[in-house]
Amino acid sequence: MCGIVGYIGARQAAPILLDGLKKLEYRGYDSAGVAVLNEGAITVKKTKGRLKNLSDMIDGGHKIPGTIGIGHTRWATHGEPSDINSHPHTSESGKIAVVHNGIIENYMKIKEFLTAKGYTFVSETDTEVIAHLADYYYNGNLLETVVKIINKLEGSYALGLISSDHPDQMIAVRKDSPLIIGLGEAENFIASDIPAILKYTRSVYLIEDNEIALLTPNGVTLYNTDLDEISKEVFSVDWDIAAAEKGGYEHFMFKEIMEEPQSVLNTIGPVLRDGLLKLDKVPGRISIVACGSAYHVGIVGKYVIEALTRIPVEVDIASEYRYRNPIITEDTLVVVISQSGETADTIAALREAKKQGAKIFGIVNVVGSSIARESDEVLYTLAGPEIAVATTKAYSTQLTAVYLLALSLKKAMGELSAEEEKYYAEELLRLPDLISAMIEQKDKIQYYASRYFNAKSVFFIGRGLDYALSLEGSLKLKEISYIHSEAYGAGELKHGTISLIEEGTLVIAVATQEKLFEKIVSNIREVKARGAVVLAIATEGCELIEECADGVLYIPKTDPLFTSSPAVTLLQLFAYYVASLKGCDIDKPRNLAKSVTVE
Ligand code: M6R
Repeated sequence: MCGIVGYIGARQAAPILLDGLKKLEYRGYDSAGVAVLNEGAITVKKTKGRLKNLSDMIDGGHKIPGTIGIGHTRWATHGEPSDINSHPHTSESGKIAVVHNGIIENYMKIKEFLTAKGYTFVSETDTEVIAHLADYYYNGNLLETVVKIINKLEGSYALGLISSDHPDQMIAVRKDSPLIIGLGEAENFIASDIPAILKYTRSVYLIEDNEIALLTPNGVTLYNTDLDEISKEVFSVDWDIAAAEKGGYEHFMFKEIMEEPQSVLNTIGPVLRDGLLKLDKVPGRISIVACGSAYHVGIVGKYVIEALTRIPVEVDIASEYRYRNPIITEDTLVVVISQSGETADTIAALREAKKQGAKIFGIVNVVGSSIARESDEVLYTLAGPEIAVATTKAYSTQLTAVYLLALSLKKAMGELSAEEEKYYAEELLRLPDLISAMIEQKDKIQYYASRYFNAKSVFFIGRGLDYALSLEGSLKLKEISYIHSEAYGAGELKHGTISLIEEGTLVIAVATQEKLFEKIVSNIREVKARGAVVLAIATEGCELIEECADGVLYIPKTDPLFTSSPAVTLLQLFAYYVASLKGCDIDKPRNLAKSVTVE
């Protein structure tokens, strides 16, 4: 989604803004712009398309001197991607410039109000109302002006604002959209995400809703909406800039798959060392809410938690959950899964559950993110920064987080014997090696990708946990290779969808569940009889499957509850190689954003 960077200090702002925006490119965008203040005037340069267009336009920033500025990458919501709709937007006087992430829900009403006051709108964006409101309310004091603006706004926003009347001030404020403040030596920064400023500082303020930051070159003061000063702890970023760079790999996605064994070890190691999670209460019911891949982890979680504990688990897509009037009883634990911790639909679902009195258990990757802060308890996945839009290592660590939660629940119920705890801990600790074994098979996976990358449509089928995994395998393939793909419970196909199977249709059959092996073999025969080409994913030792499938990739043997872990790495690599052979923009697939911060 959109990205924000701001700089105030002694250095030239524009090159720093371009550099920061480059680090946010992964979030997805369709236009970019900067506003730089120099000698009492703001210069705005913005353009549709890639950041490189903007950089070329301003000669890497050198064409617009000035030591205070704001920059933005826009992912269009209101109004097509165009030069005029790009941010920053300015007040009619040109004295105030603003960048905005999020959606102003009541912008039509404000637009009418301002139009009646004589303001003229040049763009189709919701953001432009903020620039004109700034002009309307401006009384010489920027802080007071911003408070008046936000009192008028409904929706979500992270804002950065500068004014030519105040060459040593920048204001930033947020509501339901991420924003951080970077603290430097005689220079300060704003950004929508840490990688944008990590090159310059590791000390940041994680701004919360309705907190307002006033930045000068020499300091940052935080206020509430009554303009009382507030204090906040400085958060020190503990990961390295190298973690957010490609490090010689062609794509972040591939690099992040390579990092899976270590990320999984980092996530499970500390919990196993401490003897599992200490849960104060055993819930009577569990409700898992999440979006996209994190939702697919939730479905794996349902199978694993129910199998181990017999606690009933329901799984919801976050965007549906909040509007379906969910039943939340006193003993319901709501588990919220999110890599970014900033997904708008997931945050809204969390708040809905909290409003109804539920206890929230967050499984989150980004430390200090909204979901982490708003959860009652958090289990961090220690995947490190994930840059590729298609999640890989975060998904893998989320899987292990739900395994840990399931085992911890079983232990809290008094139903995990010491022997079982030892067995499961050993199985979990084997996972990094099993994932590495999948990575070692990458040439074979690439071979199958080269056989099938021209497929027009692909069906993933599986039963039980393999069905849950099929959903993720299918999403991974479609999101980065643009091949139409669907996932079905293998037994469900014959209730309609099998009519789509014809000569040469590719079916990927996930068959890692020993107790369902015969069943999936029958389903493979059903699609084979209708002309499908079948690539099967099976467990070593189940070579019988070669009799019915056209190709087989094997995962090493592990406890049946944990097979999704090595198997997902295999499916991620398959999707990666298919997309690579098709020449797709793997790290930044079309229309997608890394973290979806609007509803
Ligand atoms: O940051 P989150 O985990 O909350 O994001 C949820 C989904 O948007 C995300 O998993 C999405 O489906 C990925 N692009 C899939 O690769």
